Formats: sequence, structure tokens, C-alpha cells
Amino acid sequence: METNTRRDFIKTTLTASLAVAIGSPVLLNGGAALAAVIPTEGTTGFAPLKFTQKPLKYAFNALEPNIDALTMDIHYTKHHAAYVKNVNDAIAAENIPYKTEADFFNNASKLSAKARNNGGGAWNHNFFFETLKAGASTGPEGKLKDAIVKSFGSVDKFKEQFSAAAASRFGSGWAWLVNDKGTLKICSTANQDNPLFDNAEVKGVPLLGLDVWEHAYYLKYQNKRADYIANWWNVVDWGVVSKRM
Ligand SMILES: [Fe+2]
Repeated sequence: METNTRRDFIKTTLTASLAVAIGSPVLLNGGAALAAVIPTEGTTGFAPLKFTQKPLKYAFNALEPNIDALTMDIHYTKHHAAYVKNVNDAIAAENIPYKTEADFFNNASKLSAKARNNGGGAWNHNFFFETLKAGASTGPEGKLKDAIVKSFGSVDKFKEQFSAAAASRFGSGWAWLVNDKGTLKICSTANQDNPLFDNAEVKGVPLLGLDVWEHAYYLKYQNKRADYIANWWNVVDWGVVSKRM
């Protein structure tokens, strides 16, 4: 409704301005012709950003015993689905103008709490779920392994530091591995923030993210977050991580 009102206003204003400019009363009735120059919903100019929930590439029980089926089911169909719905509701209700996810996060500090938290939740969970796979995890290889060794000394030391960042995040949040112009860094964020946010303490291209909200592990691991983190390494899809380099 707000979009239509705004569009009507623009249309009326432009029509009047053009009529005055060329002295033609005909234009006052020339709405059809003028409509061609006013962006409408569905065109590039006015299309609102819409977050989507990517389909899982595995069954809910595929990551057993490291991540249990019920947790995966609830995490994906309830928590993640809600983030996606809520951010899209916020974008529509608040007329958020950003056209891409990158623009959205580049302006995270200007967003409402609803838009920021749910936008982060929508993006972070797509990123998280697509980084997991069934079966044994092989470990980083190639350029990714080289970069990890260069930045942290060894793969084991990287895992130790990443696990510590995840374990020590107070309350709900995430641990991240990011690529900052060729240097790999580990960080953690609170809530549903991520390293793409304009106000992130550590910014960079996310390569790997670990959800340490209790909803990600509590059914199986209860208060043993460290056990969840240790077993999560068994289902990391390093091929996906490598492609993000
Ligand atoms: Fe989550």
C-alpha cells in the first residue's frame, strides 16, 4: 500500500512537472505513456531484496551421529525458516532499499533490530548448512590448506583456535574463518551478526562459520558445547570451504 501511494505521488508529481515544462495539458492525461518511465515493482528499480532459504543437499538424519536428525529438522524448518520470513517481512514493512545481500550487510548498522537480526540469521544459516555434508570429512587441501598453515602454523592449530573462539563466545553467536585480503583470520560474532556487517570487529570474506546458538546443539549435547564443536568438524564440507577462497 505504501509503495502504491509513493508511486502515485511520484507519478502525479512527474506528470505535473513535465506538463508545466513543455506547456502541454495533454500530458496531464498521459499517464499510460508516463508509466513507462516510472519504475514499478518487479522491475530492477523497485524490486525489494528477498532472502531465500536454500534447500538442504542432504537428509535431516544424514549428519548423525554428529548432529542429530531432530535438531537438524527443527533448526532448518523452524529457526531458519523464521529468519527468512521475518527479514522479508521487515524489508517490505520498512521499505528497506538495498538491492543485494552485500548492500544489506554493508548497511547493517542502519537497519532495525528485526531486519538486522533476521537478515543475519537467514544468510548465516544458508552459509552454515551448505558447509556440512554426510560422511567423513577429509580436511582442507590445496590453496586453502596452504593459507591455513601460513596464517595459523598448522591445520591442528587452526582447529584449536577456531574451536576456542566458538567455545568462548558468550551466549548465542557464531565463530568464523574469514579471508581478509589473503590473510585468514578467526573471529566470533554475537547473535546473528557476521563478518559482512559494516560494523563487524573483524571483516572479511567468510569461509567457514559455526553456529553456537543452543538451538544448534542442545537437544543432543545439552550444556556440552565443546563436544558439539569437536564433532562438528567431522561433517565440514572442505570442498565448499575451498571454493569460497
Ligand atoms: Fe542456528
